[in-house]
Parts: sequence; structure tokens; C-alpha cells
Amino acid sequence: MSVHKEIKRVTTHVLSEMKLKGEKIAMLTSYDYSMAKLVDEAGIDIILVGDSASNVMAGNETTLPITLDQMIYHGKSVIKAVNRALVVVDMPFGTYQGNSLEALNSAIKIMKVTHADAVKVEGGKEIIESVERILSAGIPVMGHLGLMPQSINKYGTYTVRAKEEVEAQKLIEDAKLLEEAGCFAIVLEKIPAELGAKVAQQLKIPVIGIGAGGGVDGQVLVIHDMLGLTQSFSPRFLRRYLNLAEEIKGAVNNYVQDVKSKDFPNEREQY
Ligand code: KIV
Repeated sequence: MSVHKEIKRVTTHVLSEMKLKGEKIAMLTSYDYSMAKLVDEAGIDIILVGDSASNVMAGNETTLPITLDQMIYHGKSVIKAVNRALVVVDMPFGTYQGNSLEALNSAIKIMKVTHADAVKVEGGKEIIESVERILSAGIPVMGHLGLMPQSINKYGTYTVRAKEEVEAQKLIEDAKLLEEAGCFAIVLEKIPAELGAKVAQQLKIPVIGIGAGGGVDGQVLVIHDMLGLTQSFSPRFLRRYLNLAEEIKGAVNNYVQDVKSKDFPNEREQY
């Protein structure tokens, strides 16, 4: 039987067992109680309380404006709904890059208040001191390399990363550094499939891809994108499983018409 079916609660140990057995890991984002409950009950392995909340929940253009307290609010809401999945909370921009003590304090606050299982940070060598300090407090850390949305102002575009040899080599070195430091998994975003597979082969820890091909150990998508709630965002790596935007607009339109026509509420729908 697969590890996925056997276990009642996903831990970092369960994830490494999945990698050992060649069982792919399924990860999705969630930001609120109701959605997280459905996602968990449907059997997801990891729920990421992503800082993509800045885009899909708060309507910002980038992930940069979201604050630590806002991420904690989303994390707390998600944790209350989850019984099985491992929950990872993104550390927001500006809470871990400059100073490892600040990184530690931010991570401790996330863990203490949300009761999440782990935190995620973007970057390699540049933030390794922060990663080590967070890990030294016994807090599991997930890394994130490739396209790092918190660095959008440095790169200026959301195009595929690490296509050139120098950047690909740095990514491999960063991935190894994160593994050596003690990260339990790494997300690779929007890089060539060949490079994704190479990193997954070279690391013992699970490598979860978003636009990193099928050769990695698992996949992650933003829930709003895979359910078709976001309409204008259509990168090649995105598979839409529903067209919820159209469904919701249709339902709301029907409701508006029913209210206007006095069809709603009918006699059975009132006291
Ligand atoms: O914030 C987020 O949703 C993420 C995923 C894209 C991996 O970091």
C-alpha cells in the first residue's frame, strides 16, 4: 500500500519515506479555514499557506506587501481545519533575509501562534545563516529556489529561471547547501524540467516542483489557479481542474435574477 493511504498524519519523516519509495508528493496552497478543510479531506499531503495570499487574497501585484501578522492570520485559519496534511507557512518578504536573529524571531512567532508544522523561505547561500538559525530552534524549514517571487524587483520578470549554465549551477549548489543545513524539502519554481530532475536525483530530501517538470518528487500549485478562480494567469505549467470563476459568476447571476424576480425566497424558504 502507498505511504499516502497508510498514514493518518503527514510528517517530514513521512515525506522522506515517500521520496524513498518513489511516491509523488501532492501539495497545494490554502489561505482560509473552509478551503483548507476541503483540501485536507481530499487527501493532499502538504498545505502551503503561501505568501501568494498577497496576490490571490489581498489583490496585490506582488508577494512583497504581505506582513508577518497577515501570514499568521492565514496560518491560524488553515491550521484549525487540518487533520492530516503537513502545514507549511511562508515567511514573508523582509522577515528573514537581513538578520538571522530577526529570522529566528519571525519563525518562532509563526510556529507559536499558528501551530504550523514548518516554515518556507526563498533563497540559497544569501540566507543560509537565517536558515541555520531557524533550524537550530527545532523548526523545520522548506527551501524555495528558481523563480523566487519575493525577488521580482531584482529580476524584473516572471520568466523561466536557470536556463543558463551559470544560474543552473548556482541553483544546484544552493539546493545542496539547503539540504546540508537541514531543510526537509525544497520547492523549485519555473525552471527547465531537466534541471528539476537533476536536482531531485542529487538530493536526498524531497524536491517539489511548480513548473519544474515531472522528474521532481512532487508538485505544488496555487489553489486559486488550479480551480480556475484566477482567470488571467495561464502559464504553461498550470493545469486547471475546474473553471470555478465561470461557475461562481453563473451562480451569483442566477441569485441576482431570483431576488429581483421575487422567486427567492419561496414559501419553503421562509419562517
Ligand atoms: O506562495 C506560494 O504560493 C508559493 C508557491 C508558488 C510554491 O510559494
